[in-house]
Amino acid sequence: MKIKVIVPATTANLGPGFNVFGAALSLYNEFEVEYVPDVKKTHFTLNGFGKKSLPKGDKNLFWQSMQKIFKVLGEDKYNLKNLNIIINAGIPLSGGLGSSASAIVGGIFLANALCGNKLNKTQVVDLAVKIEGHPDNVIPAIYGGICIYSKDGNSGTVVQLPVPKLKIVLCVPAFELRTKQSRRILPKCVDFQNLIFNMSRVAFLTASFCCSDFSLLKMGTQDKVHQPYRCKMIPAMDEVLEAALYAGAYGACLSGSGPTLAAFCNAKDAVNVQKSMIKRWKKDNIYADAYVLNFDAKGTVII
Ligand code: HSE
Repeated sequence: MKIKVIVPATTANLGPGFNVFGAALSLYNEFEVEYVPDVKKTHFTLNGFGKKSLPKGDKNLFWQSMQKIFKVLGEDKYNLKNLNIIINAGIPLSGGLGSSASAIVGGIFLANALCGNKLNKTQVVDLAVKIEGHPDNVIPAIYGGICIYSKDGNSGTVVQLPVPKLKIVLCVPAFELRTKQSRRILPKCVDFQNLIFNMSRVAFLTASFCCSDFSLLKMGTQDKVHQPYRCKMIPAMDEVLEAALYAGAYGACLSGSGPTLAAFCNAKDAVNVQKSMIKRWKKDNIYADAYVLNFDAKGTVII
């Protein structure tokens, strides 16, 4: 039995929607597992991002996620000795593009498929949110498109906004910023005026996608809850966001907890936005890669 799962990259928060908004992107990690009952040797193959740096075996996040699902389902016949695992990673690591979420989601989907899909979608979503600790990457990775998620008691609700024909430029600087580090810098309390600011921006962000009025994205991607703190750890962050807007982007923000920056624009402006962001970071001697992506509308796919 051979099963393959394709999971998209994601950008979380979209500026003001901290831990609530996320979008799936057209950049993918592929996870392939083959069940080989008689084999006595572990096969764990990594290709692409993390080929040399990611752990194989018990410390691998994808494998840990699979193991958690086997435990939930009471399946103990699967282990690394009889599974041939291949990971083709197209999503850069630790950059704010949801590579950890993709490993968690990939692991849950594959383990569930190996066990005969005993978990329904609600259970898959609940487990993904629980394992990741926050919903805004795993939800769009599972559903695709632009997602809003919140919990009411024990159950969570997912709302999908219309997927626009915009490009998203993701500019990934050549330094790492761990989510933990980027979370530690956030304050425990939010100032009341900043809360009002963010509520208005979230309303504009939602209206922009629902009404296809992308002129609202400039205000709709602004944030005063997390970005002002994180910009202290990301040199020239505000200037790179400004460069994207100046080059024609409708809106620009930190991607997840960073350090990747995201800009939303029309196809005709995408290359200019991409070049401008790279150029502005280069002025501060920071090398950056940039991807021009579409929104992914499918979410996680099993083949
Ligand atoms: N919403 C979370 C944060 C996770 O900003 O820290 C982003 O990946």
